[in-house]
Amino acid sequence: MTGGAGYIGAHCVRALRESGAEVVIYDDLSTGHRAAAEAVGARLVVAPLDDREALRRTLVEGFDAVMHFAARALVGESTRRPLWYFEQNVGSTLTLLSEMSRAGVRRLVFSSSCAIYGAPAYLPVDEAHPIGPLSPYGRSKLMVEQILDELRQREGLQATSLRYFNAAGAHPDGSLGESHDPETHLIPLALAAAAGDREALSIYGRDYDTPDGTCVRDYVHVLDLADAHLRALRALMDGAPGGAYNLGTGRGRSVLEVLDAVGRVTGLTVPVIDAPRRDGDPPGLWAGAEKARAELGWSPRYTSLDAIVETAWRWYQRERA
Ligand code: UFG
Repeated sequence: MTGGAGYIGAHCVRALRESGAEVVIYDDLSTGHRAAAEAVGARLVVAPLDDREALRRTLVEGFDAVMHFAARALVGESTRRPLWYFEQNVGSTLTLLSEMSRAGVRRLVFSSSCAIYGAPAYLPVDEAHPIGPLSPYGRSKLMVEQILDELRQREGLQATSLRYFNAAGAHPDGSLGESHDPETHLIPLALAAAAGDREALSIYGRDYDTPDGTCVRDYVHVLDLADAHLRALRALMDGAPGGAYNLGTGRGRSVLEVLDAVGRVTGLTVPVIDAPRRDGDPPGLWAGAEKARAELGWSPRYTSLDAIVETAWRWYQRERA
């Protein structure tokens, strides 16, 4: 598993280990955490994804499948460093794919993103929605999906792309969670502001054409994402060719609704300031995830925002202690 020391990757390793699978984490720890890899009890190979020799040495051990989480994932940063994003997210994936091919590993589950759709033409956004990424990050995810489509058709690679909406929450036992540096995501920033560890939370725009004027997103719990990965992998093991699936709850929540949930869960007030709109933010974005439901039998268990925020808060408090 590449990127298994990262936020979503580590939760998936945990779920895979609980299902009885053996997992090797391949991660350069540039954004992932050694502690996360240790917490999930899988062997860790520390090497960059573009290190062909290290990949070769690892893949020769023999694997049923690769789950590929490792990527640069900051939309804003990608607009400033597009070439680097393509090198890191597309170039390294090509190296991974060629080494998988050489080692005879024929199954891949790939972390894609709702960012490939761009500004929604309609809602909910299902897999038939037009594709039109607005950032190099989104485009890099799309490019990998397109490469996987070709390899699926022409070389019989079994490959599934999972298009995450807004990954959120933490392991309910408090042992794993979201910790980015710099942190850019709404829920961890709101928790930090509530706890007094950060300045006020900036609300990026209150004048959107949405019910309360703030942006609406689909927050999907990281354990539900992990469950979808297991289901996608099982389908590939059963011989499915793969494909692309949206992963979201199908419900949109505004920034103010998230802040209300943070207030209820923590019992604290989130200090806020109004800030200008953030470049490239669509007003509303939520998933049509019927395909994952129908074909993978996936249905998110964390449907309440409070339940999602509660797990994130538990993790936050434990990390802070
Ligand atoms: N927001 C704020 N203040 C903050 C941080 C966020 O108001 O300090 C708002 C944003 O404007 C947005 C919402 O909270 O409306 C969620 O923002 P996040 O940064 O948490 O998440 P994004 O929706 O921007 O990003 C997610 C994924 C990306 C993906 C992107 C596609 O994390 O990987 O959706 O739109 F590319």
